[in-house]
Amino acid sequence: MSGTAVARAALCAALLTTAALAGVLTSGSVPKAPYLELNDGHRLPQLGLGTWLGNSSQGRIKPQGHEVQQAVEWAIAAGYRHVDTARVYGTEPQVGAAIREAVRRGDVKREDLFVTTKLWNDRHARAAVVPALRESLAALGLDYVDLYLVHWPIGQFPNGSYDLTDHLSTWRGMEEAQRLGLARSIGLSNFNQSQIEGILAGCDVKPAVLQVEMNLNLQQESLRAYCSSRGIVLTAYTPFGSLLKGGAGAAGAGATRVDDPVLVEMAGKYNKTVPQIVLRYLMELGVAAIPKTITKQRVEQNMDIFDFHLTAADRAALRGLDAGLRTIAGGRWADSPQYPFERSDG
Ligand SMILES: NC(=O)c1ccc[n+]([C@@H]2O[C@H](COP(=O)([O-])OP(=O)(O)OC[C@H]3O[C@@H](n4cnc5c(N)ncnc54)[C@H](OP(=O)(O)O)[C@@H]3O)[C@@H](O)[C@H]2O)c1
Ligand SMILES: *[C@@H]1O[C@H](CO)[C@@H](O)[C@H](O)[C@H]1NC(C)=O
Ligand SMILES: *[C@@H]1O[C@H](CO)[C@@H](O)[C@H](O)[C@H]1NC(C)=O
Ligand SMILES: *[C@@H]1O[C@H](CO)[C@@H](O)[C@H](O)[C@H]1NC(C)=O
Ligand SMILES: *[C@@H]1O[C@H](CO)[C@@H](O)[C@H](O)[C@H]1NC(C)=O
Repeated sequence: MSGTAVARAALCAALLTTAALAGVLTSGSVPKAPYLELNDGHRLPQLGLGTWLGNSSQGRIKPQGHEVQQAVEWAIAAGYRHVDTARVYGTEPQVGAAIREAVRRGDVKREDLFVTTKLWNDRHARAAVVPALRESLAALGLDYVDLYLVHWPIGQFPNGSYDLTDHLSTWRGMEEAQRLGLARSIGLSNFNQSQIEGILAGCDVKPAVLQVEMNLNLQQESLRAYCSSRGIVLTAYTPFGSLLKGGAGAAGAGATRVDDPVLVEMAGKYNKTVPQIVLRYLMELGVAAIPKTITKQRVEQNMDIFDFHLTAADRAALRGLDAGLRTIAGGRWADSPQYPFERSDG
């Protein structure tokens, strides 16, 4: 071997050792999803873990044992760096416990994680926003969140009557939360285009993110185009929509389901599952997505979508499945003047 070859071999060996060592040190905790650039200079990991446990006939489902903490710990180990929660989900304490545990173990640093929480409808008064966020931070056990969202454009007092505080006034509270360093980025959820336009017309800080329902059955083409024209990143919540039995949306007539033959065949071609195809499609549309699962194998499966690409023909077929079907309609607020969606008859 020439001197150069020996030097090259030694360098290779050194690099391999370093790589192996890094592999051990970060054991299974390498970030897997790409990042989307936000308009405020921060970046959002494109895939995150949702933590809303859904509803039963008795109302909001509360966590059993440590199931959410466990799921968030599995997620971080599987390469997730983005976790979505909200004051109203009742999952902030477990999300925070998982983060502290992962940081304590040295799997990640706090600054490597992107944590979102949301302002509930009963705290729309400008002066209520910062105190509400401080309550969330206390529940999370964190000094700041990466993203604070106005959960709904609908204000409601605890006694059930509507709080018609104007959205810009709530937004001033959000801007203050950001100025105080309690939220790195601020944004909106469930606001429609004209409501966002109202914020943009009077804000000092533009919303960085809009979180809305988006899935195969509700592809949000016009809202996506609008957000992209305004430099707002869209995050898809309920990314499976009515695809799965027992998912957030029960059936929904006309919805494409997980056993749809076209989807099953497509998934087989890529050696992926139908939920993975759906998540991959959302990634290729350039939005973020926050699928929820508390099942370890699904936590891992949902992140395992960055090693393939859909063909243009398959993307077109998936686009053809858009049915404009909403799973989360917030129908109990349909009589609010701030209700954001088209009102279904009856
Ligand atoms: N801003 C808002 O107003 C708003 C509204 C709704 C949701 N969100 C956020 O978005 C997140 C996701 O939405 P979502 O919880 O409504 O619904 P989703 O993520 O579309 O669906 C969740 C359901 O899918 C199942 N699942 C997940 N991955 C799967 C897979 N690979 N194969 C088969 N089943 C799978 C889960 O089951 P298991 O858990 O039993 O595994 C669960 O039943 C929420 O958790 C929340 O963080 C925000
Ligand atoms: C959740 O449960 C509450 C209380 O039972 C109900 O009013 C609301 O409509 C449910 N929301 C969804 C999205 O199913
Ligand atoms: C509900 O609460 C709000 C705010 O405290 C109050 O202004 C309003 O009068 C109350 N409405 C009813 C019907 O009690
Ligand atoms: C198909 O995917 C499964 C699960 O990820 C994997 O174990 C298997 O090796 C894959 N098969 C082929 C032919 O790639
Ligand atoms: C948005 O919501 C408001 C309040 O309900 C409504 O007046 C408006 O028509 C909605 N706009 C769009 C684009 O849906």
